[in-house]
Amino acid sequence: MRTIGVLTSGGDAPGMNAAIRAVVRTGLNKGLKVMGIQRGYNGIINGEIFEMDSSSVSDIIHRGGTILRTARSEEFRTEEGRKKAYNVLKVFGIEGLVVIGGDGSFTGAMKLANEFGVKVVGIPGTIDNDLAYTDYTIGFDTAVNTVLDAINKLRDTSTSHERVSVVEVMGRHCGDIALYAGLAGGAESIIIPEQPFDFDELCRNIIQSKARGKMHNLIVLAEGVGGAEELARRIEEITGIEARATKLGHIQRGGSPTAFDRILASKMGARAVELLLEGKSKRAVGIKDGKIIDVDIEEALSMKKESDSYMYELSKIISM
Ligand code: F6P
Repeated sequence: MRTIGVLTSGGDAPGMNAAIRAVVRTGLNKGLKVMGIQRGYNGIINGEIFEMDSSSVSDIIHRGGTILRTARSEEFRTEEGRKKAYNVLKVFGIEGLVVIGGDGSFTGAMKLANEFGVKVVGIPGTIDNDLAYTDYTIGFDTAVNTVLDAINKLRDTSTSHERVSVVEVMGRHCGDIALYAGLAGGAESIIIPEQPFDFDELCRNIIQSKARGKMHNLIVLAEGVGGAEELARRIEEITGIEARATKLGHIQRGGSPTAFDRILASKMGARAVELLLEGKSKRAVGIKDGKIIDVDIEEALSMKKESDSYMYELSKIISM
């Protein structure tokens, strides 16, 4: 293999740049030509492809977002779009492709491999942490810390006004951001799609903790369950205690990556290139019990993510 390509696809995540840097510099170190592809799969179709050197990735390890830009490509979802992409890859001499993104991006990579025999390796880059085969995805730790910072601030104002504060966080159908940030932030309640939610029990807890003298009440709500505004309104109506809603939104997708995400991205980026050089394809790089692993990308996509019920139960016990 002489030439590889790298792209970022789907929602951006802090640490994607560190992963790109690792792919480029590992590739160059091994004598490969590395091509950067802009705007995800659209960039292949449109030929937005350029050669990268060591300085193309200077000064980016600490930056959020992705220097390659990203997109969710409708055209690539069609067989015709993928055929176009395959032809463009051939023209540019790209024999191996590193795809940094979430499950949608992995599905695209898998199809390129299955339909046209392109050698692909996926690196999990998404704040959601919704891929079951890996303990962590790149960007998740940074997003959790961003939410934690917001929870700390909300605690101040919630205490001052003796109000309930409902904070809605991202994660699509996965509750990990809510669970990790909620536990770390000492939230009174964590509401996630993977666990049953009893509204009456929530209201009882709010009323009882107020009666015990608690000044604040923080509820972390995963977006996959519902909206914070509506929940805050219902809580206020039933408990008679003032409640406010905060939707953190895309703040969670930005910011300088944490050390954890930078290191994870660096290791995964390097491993992805090694796999291509070993002649492997259709692999998804991950981390399990602190070790960098790789699994078949189809298998990775078929695994069902489960939430950490120990963490959930623990949060219930220690947040009373
Ligand atoms: O997948 C990452 C994510 O931030 C989800 O948590 C969220 O539901 C979604 O993307 C938002 O997508 P968009 O940026 O297209 O609004």
